[in-house]
Amino acid sequence: MRTSIRLWNLIILLSASLALMPAVQAEELSRAAILSASCEGCHGTGGRSPGAIPPIAGKSAEYLREALESFRSGEREATVMGRHATGYSDEEIRQIAEYFSKQ
Ligand code: HEC
Repeated sequence: MRTSIRLWNLIILLSASLALMPAVQAEELSRAAILSASCEGCHGTGGRSPGAIPPIAGKSAEYLREALESFRSGEREATVMGRHATGYSDEEIRQIAEYFSKQ
């Protein structure tokens, strides 16, 4: 009897955490989408720039993260990106890089 109650508790706990997972992912995705919206004015919708500004859609998250960090630190020279990248934390850069890598 005791064992079966423990088992039920475990099952309930597992299904509750499984149910919560997509909600957490969705929240992170929408936050990333909001942060990334400011990039799309120049880099195009979803980062698919058709013009002179380099497209960033589908580049690896690692490449995008490194690019943003080097713009932020001033290590990589830029006309506008150095200014733009200073506004983001490490965690936000990770989220933005992840977002554009999936476009
Ligand atoms: C005002 C226009 C503008 C905005 C806004 C902007 N960018 Fe850029 N981005 C540029 C330009 C121009 C370059 C080329 C480097 C330079 O001159 O600054 C560039 C370069 C880049 C590169 C390097 C691309 C490569 O191929 O190496 C990345 C990555 C990038 N931007 C990401 C972003 C992200 C992410 C955002 C939003 C957080 C953003 N940019 C917002 C104009 C912009």
